[in-house]
Parts: sequence; C-alpha cells; structure tokens
Amino acid sequence: MPNRLIIKNAAQLVTCSGFKAKHGKAMSDLQIINDGAVVIEKGIIRGVGKTRDTLSDVDESGFSVIDARGKAVLPGFVDSHTHFVFGGYRAEEFSWRLRGDSYMQILERGGGILNTVRATRESKKDELIKTGKKRLDSMLSLGVTTVEGKSGYGLDRDTELKQLEVMADLDNGHPIDIVRTFLGAHAVTTDYKGREDHYIDFLIDRVMPEVAERKLAEFCDVFCERNVFSVAQARRLLSRAKEMGFNLKIHADEIVQLGGAELAAALNAVSADHLLQASDQGIHDMAEKGIVATLLPGTAFSLREPYARGRYMIDHNCAVALATDLNPGSCFSESIPLIFALATLYMNLTPEEAITALTINGAAALARAHTIGSIDVGKKGDVIVLEFPSYEYIPYHIGVSAVEKVVKNGILVFDREKDE
Ligand code: NIG
Ligand code: FE
Repeated sequence: MPNRLIIKNAAQLVTCSGFKAKHGKAMSDLQIINDGAVVIEKGIIRGVGKTRDTLSDVDESGFSVIDARGKAVLPGFVDSHTHFVFGGYRAEEFSWRLRGDSYMQILERGGGILNTVRATRESKKDELIKTGKKRLDSMLSLGVTTVEGKSGYGLDRDTELKQLEVMADLDNGHPIDIVRTFLGAHAVTTDYKGREDHYIDFLIDRVMPEVAERKLAEFCDVFCERNVFSVAQARRLLSRAKEMGFNLKIHADEIVQLGGAELAAALNAVSADHLLQASDQGIHDMAEKGIVATLLPGTAFSLREPYARGRYMIDHNCAVALATDLNPGSCFSESIPLIFALATLYMNLTPEEAITALTINGAAALARAHTIGSIDVGKKGDVIVLEFPSYEYIPYHIGVSAVEKVVKNGILVFDREKDE
C-alpha cells in the first residue's frame, strides 16, 4: 500500500492547530473539529477538516483508511526532555532515597549521575542501542512520536560522542524521531572536582567543535545547580555553544534557586527546564522573551520535591511544555499518563493546557513547532487515535494510556487493537 492514509469520522479531531508556542490563555485553545478527518500523503498532512468536507473530492480507494468513529484523534506527543540512552540502573539508590538520603547527597558521594557515567562508559554501543530501542518502543506505545535525548553520561569525549551516535543510529532505525542534545556539562567527575572551569574549557575546546561539525547534536544543555555548574559557568558554556550554532537548553533552578530561568531568558535559550525553584522575576523574563518553560512533574514526584509553579507560569503568560525527564536516577519513567495525572491533579493545569504542553509546546521546546505538534496541513503525519471519544479521558484514566493507535509519518506503527 502506498504511503497514503485517511483517518475519518473522528468524534473529536483535536488539532492543537498552530505553528509556534502557545502562551498563557492560548494554551487552552485546542481547536477541535467534531466529526473530523485527516488526509496524509507521503508522510505529510494534506487535508484536515470535517469528514464530509475533507473527503468530498478524495477517492478513498487509493488510501489506507482508519475509521475513528467514537474516538478522539490528536497530534502525537512530543517528549521534549529525556535522558533515555544510558547504561546500568540505580534501583538501590531509589531505595536509599526512600530511607532519607537526598538526590544531591548521593551525587556528592560519587553515586547518582556519576554511577550511570561509569556504567555508560563500560557499555558497548550495541548494548546502548538495544536498551535504547526498548525504551523507544515503550514510548511509542504511549503515543510519543518525537523525543529529545541528551548525552551527559560520558563526561569524556568518547562516551559523550558514543551516546550521541547511538541516538543517531536509533533515529534512523526507529519510527520515533529523536532530537539530540549535548549535555557534556551534566556533572563533574572526581578528576575535575574543584576545577569545574577547566572542565568547561575541555568541553568548549575539545568536544563541542566535533559535536557541532559532525552535527551530532542540535541543542546544548547544562546542569546549572549548586555544587554542579554555577550560573557564570553555564553562561560561559552556553554562550560559546550559541556561537558554534547550537540551540540552547538549561536544567534551571531544579533544587536551588540560582537564577537559571533569568539566564535562559538573557541568552535566548529555546527552553529552560525543571524550574521547581524559579523566581517570579525569572518566570516573567521567560514569558517576555518567549522561552518555553519545560516542566517535569515526574521528577518532582519521584524526588518528593515541590512541583514547579505551572499554574502561575501560565497565568503570567509563559509557554509551558511538559516532558517526562526519563532517566535512571531522578525519574525512571517514560510514563506520559503519569505526567498528565501529575500536571492536572497537582500542578493545576487544565486537561487542555496539559495537552498543549505535550504537543505544540513540546514541539516549540525543540524548535519544531513549524513541522510537528499539531494536526495542520503541511506538518508531519504524526497522529494518535485514542480508545475514547474525548481528550478528557487522557488525564481521567489515571496512570493508564488512552492511546489505541499511533501513526508516524502517515504510517500506522502501533495498534493496540491488533496486538490483542
Ligand atoms: O534532569 N538534574 C540533572 N539531570 C537529570 C537526572 C539525571 C540522573 O539522575 O541520572 C534530571 O533530573
Ligand atoms: Fe533532565
């Protein structure tokens, strides 16, 4: 069958229509078409509208057809912040945290991120591809059609490049599109302890030029946190990254309020992420500059930290995105249903805002709002079909995926009906 697909009779076609981030009140506008249809040809959306109008002059015989009667249809989810390529696991640290150790204490005594760094350095590329693929399969089944993935578990040249190469290979071999981020400044190894500026020099001089030249990453990110990298160090690294052509992200104000949100605004980063402790000023700066605030409620939940102030951010005209932060330490979960539950029940986002945050605003957090994140003519044919008639079932069916089918580039790549 040629790559031509029609999805028709959708009880709700939740288009999330738009080509840029939605701020504040605009996040509530899902642009729903009742009894809607989508036409996708060669991977690109060619028609969107009421079923009758959209299909009136289309000969359906040359198409695969999905009848979405009684079902809601949405854009594929965009998980814009993960660390899904890593070696080893840290289940024992989870137990330590349950007994009272903090995430930063574990890192400071050589565990945490550094534990995963050791395991990732030892892992062969093939092993990382195998475990990475399994994680992508799980994400796909939850409706994710684009994911961002970070390096940061190498902290040396070879392993950082290895992680990025693994993601490039996976991107070629898996339906999910992968956007790669260089996070060499994720932690400080013991040999650089107290010499963090030298480590930043090492990244700038010895690693980033190669990453840029080989186009191994599109974004550069940094863990700006007390006892990790200071605001001044983050500023130096990201400023150079920008000159080298990277788009910028920052792990900002996660555990301690350092001014990471303000820095993201000053540097025109595409997004600032975490933001549990972001100041009012930082939030206002981000809203003004149009920096996407990427919130990761799974991490706050898992670390038992207070949630980022998503409600306040939206009320103050920020563009909020939601993502999982899947990683082996602070949040070992790719669960989109969990993110919906936490965002609506504990961060007081409405279901509409949460959907915008995981679609068009997730796309904006990856500088891709013009090509993905909504069901608009000209965008990629990345679409999900729910088993339910309305998007409202997504947060309502707590912790369980409502996704029945996933279409990527116009091809049906997951179908729960068929798997049964
Ligand atoms: O986004 N905060 C820093 N980095 C990750 C956690 C990485 C890890 O614990 O392995 C985060 O939470
Ligand atoms: Fe993270």
